Amino acid sequence: MSSDLPYTVLITGASGGIGSALAEAYAAANVSLLLQGRNRQRLQAVAAACAAKGAAVEIATLDLRDLPALETWLDEVCRRAAPNLLIVNAGLNTHVGRQGEAENWQAVQALLDVNVVAAIATVNAVLPAMRRRKTGQIALISSLAAYFGLPVTPSYCASKAALKAYGEALRGWLAAEGIKVNVVMPGYVESEMCRAMPGPKPFLWPAEKAAGYIKRGLRQNRARISFPFPLNFGAWWLAVLPPAVSQFILRRLHYAD
Ligand SMILES: NC(=O)c1ccc[n+]([C@@H]2O[C@H](COP(=O)([O-])OP(=O)(O)OC[C@H]3O[C@@H](n4cnc5c(N)ncnc54)[C@H](OP(=O)(O)O)[C@@H]3O)[C@@H](O)[C@H]2O)c1
Repeated sequence: MSSDLPYTVLITGASGGIGSALAEAYAAANVSLLLQGRNRQRLQAVAAACAAKGAAVEIATLDLRDLPALETWLDEVCRRAAPNLLIVNAGLNTHVGRQGEAENWQAVQALLDVNVVAAIATVNAVLPAMRRRKTGQIALISSLAAYFGLPVTPSYCASKAALKAYGEALRGWLAAEGIKVNVVMPGYVESEMCRAMPGPKPFLWPAEKAAGYIKRGLRQNRARISFPFPLNFGAWWLAVLPPAVSQFILRRLHYAD
């Protein structure tokens, strides 16, 4: 962040728990923040907190499922200058219900539209400008739920696994061009989404702690920024063990109830 030009950070889902904490973590003099969300009131409150720390802040209130509107906004942003850091953070969750009823199809479709389609569309729209500049960083907010499908959240796990694989592929493809790509895999972090989820939430982190950890990981350009340690280690094992053993462990931990 040493040049005269402001360091530009674009964050989707900046009105939410993790997104707003990330915005505040990056807010500083000579930083330009581009913050997206739907809830204008929350976004304005985040913007005011970031401006108070000296950042220049712009907000964009749009529904990410409106792909033409998303593309128009990102084209306009990139015409001015490619963001130095793009944090693809907006996301939704669904679950099969407290009695294991089923996921609602409309909710599943909205989840896939935001967590996968809009996430990849966002990268796609920003990437050409980063490639022209031969520099930039893209952080994709996946989840520890990407390691192994959890019985209560099938579509969410599928969407986060998609984003994890996408980010890993991008990192390999773009490293030689000077573009860094990082996959972020949080465990449980305090937010509206997290509160709405049924089931145990071990090792829950405040959003500010998660944002600080993510920021450090991005500075170090770590391929995978996953936390907190005990949950990350356990979730990683679920992907490594034979699936029958992983399913057994999940039942014992009441993740399949
Ligand atoms: N919290 C956790 O435990 C946890 C764990 C692992 C991964 N994550 C991931 O972290 C990311 C942030 O989640 P969070 O926990 O901070 O949840 P959150 O507080 O519910 O925030 C979600 C954000 O996504 C935005 N969003 C959702 N649907 C949108 C749409 N259709 N169009 C535009 N924006 C939309 C929301 O905007 P509005 O509110 O303005 O509509 C909000 O800013 C998500 O990708 C989530 O999957 C969270």
